[in-house]
This record gives sequence, structure tokens and C-alpha cells, in this order.
Amino acid sequence: MDGRELLRRYLEQRRELGESEFVLDNLSVEDALKALGVRNAAALGTSAGESAAARTPSANPARSAAEAAAQGGDWREALRAMGAGRDAAPTAAKNPAAADSPSAATPSSTDAAPPPAKVPRLEMPAPVAGAAIPHENAPPGLVVGSPMGELLDGPLAHLGSLDDIAAAVKACTQCGLYAGAKNPVPGEGNPKAQFVCVGEAPGATEDETGRPFVGAAGQLLTKILAAVNLPREDVFICNVLKHRPPGNRNPAPEEVKACSPFLLRQLELLQPRVILALGTFAAQTLLQTTTPIGKLRGQVHRFHGIPLIVTYHPAALLRNPSWKRPTWEDVQLARRIFDSAASGA
Ligand code: URA
Ligand code: URA
Repeated sequence: MDGRELLRRYLEQRRELGESEFVLDNLSVEDALKALGVRNAAALGTSAGESAAARTPSANPARSAAEAAAQGGDWREALRAMGAGRDAAPTAAKNPAAADSPSAATPSSTDAAPPPAKVPRLEMPAPVAGAAIPHENAPPGLVVGSPMGELLDGPLAHLGSLDDIAAAVKACTQCGLYAGAKNPVPGEGNPKAQFVCVGEAPGATEDETGRPFVGAAGQLLTKILAAVNLPREDVFICNVLKHRPPGNRNPAPEEVKACSPFLLRQLELLQPRVILALGTFAAQTLLQTTTPIGKLRGQVHRFHGIPLIVTYHPAALLRNPSWKRPTWEDVQLARRIFDSAASGA
């Protein structure tokens, strides 16, 4: 069993666990290996000659180690032992057509190590040259506010905790939305979260439950976060508006004006390492711009000093799967910023 096959099986397991929508459609072998913790995957690679030898039974100690690890269910260790990923890049070179469209990966693309017949062939699109945005190279974007601290005299400065904010949201009658809503949806998550997701406004399921992002789009968001090793419980998730606009209509400017102090105070208390703005509305509201989302993504904006990354709204991904790949890149970028802030870089 070679590294690619181990990877396929691992991804198949994750697909069976319900993660297919996001993970399988978007992950390149390289990215998967990185997600699996294989550092410097390319450098781990073996030459073609060695890989042929590795397929001969008992030829290779790494292979035995990998099989032992795989039997034990430790796919990470198995992949590491195999140095998987050595043939990830050539797929892109041989199949340039696939680069233009995430759905264009073809089963017929020439592959140095085709999987044995019984293993389902999972289609992983070839990496797009230059599409991954190393955070060092992501251009700086818009700057809103001065570095952190400026918010500190906002109108809600007396609210000392996220719970206080939630209570204030519950009592809020500043705009008319509370009257038609079933529940306030102030936001939820880890009060010490360093990664914050900001959406638009509660939808029907959120209004029913009082929780953000729990409907179909929310479930996809949870999977997207899991794909970069961010359990939902570790992050904080909220919206610009805290009550549902009737029929999911677009938020009105006066509603945003009335509600945004809550969001600002949440961000001020959390002081996250990174903000992920989900969709046009959150992005344009936070960044105070009318620039389209396609232009705002791929840059590192600053919101009162906090790095802010823009990506498509998960509901938009459900309608337009071709946005999954850019979203995957954006979320990885946000994750890298999160990691580099953690290491003080
Ligand atoms: N869409 C949003 O923008 N927010 C939610 O909480 C749910 C759906
Ligand atoms: N329109 C939206 O509201 N959000 C997106 O992410 C894309 C288009």
C-alpha cells in the first residue's frame, strides 16, 4: 500500500463520517498531508525507483512501519512512515485542464501509482499553480480603525463579558427586528476564542434555537472549521445582526447601525488573533466598503489591528460549489495567521 492509497482510505473514512462536502472536494494531496501533520511532505518523498521497490512485499522497512501503523488505525503515522505525497505535484503538471475547474479532475489523468482495484478512487482536484496563498505573500488589504484599543470607549464599554452582551441583546429594542423574532442570537463559542467567525444574520433555524450557524449553512461551516482543525467549540461564532430579519431579507442600514455595537464589543472583549468574515454582508460591513467579495478575499485586512480574512458565505457555497476551493484557501490562510500569531511571528 503506498502513501497515496493510505491517504485515499483516510479520506474515505472522513467522507463516511460526513466530511465529504468540504474535505474531499477541495483537498490536494499536499494540503491533506499538511492537514495530517506531515511536515515538508515533498521532502519526505522517495524516488520513483524506491517507490517501485516499496510496492514489493517486505522490501521496505518504512512500508512495514506504515502498514503496522495503518492496522492500528493511525493514518497519520502511516502516511508519515510512507513519506506520502511524493507524487502529488506531477498530477497538476500532467493535467493542466484540471487546474481551471475544481470539478474537472478526471479519473483518466495519468497517475504514477494507480490504486488497487478495490479501493474507491476518490477524486481530488489537482493543486492550482499559485492558488495557495502563503500568508507571507497574501497582500495587505483594507485598514479599518487604528490598532487595537480604539474600540475601548464604545457605547457598550460597560458590558464586561460575552454573557453581559447576550443579556443586553436579549433586552434590545433599538430596531424593530426583536418584535418579529422568536429568539435573540447573540453568538456562541469559547469565551477565550482567538478565532472568530462573523456571519450576516440569523436564519430560520437560528431564530428557532437562539444559536448561530446551526442550519444547513452552519453545518457546513462546522465542517469547514473542522477541516483546519478548529473544533466549533474552540471558536466564537456570531453575526452582524443578532435578530432574524423577516424572511431572511437583507439587513437594513438602520438595523446594522443599531446592532453593530454588540459585535464591536464582542470583538473587543475577545481580541481574537483573526476574524473570518463570512460572505458579502459581513465583509462589507466590517470593512466599510462596497468592494465585491471576490476582490476582498485573498488579502489580509486589518480591523482595529486584528487581521481579518474574507471568504464566501457557506450558504453561497451550497448554491455554488465552485466557490469551495477559494473558500478552502481562505480558511487555510486564516488558520496560518492564527498559527503565526500564536507563535508570535
Ligand atoms: N447565515 C448567517 O449569516 N448566520 C447564521 O447564523 C446562519 C446563517
Ligand atoms: N453573496 C453572498 O452573500 N455571499 C457570498 O459569499 C457570495 C455571494
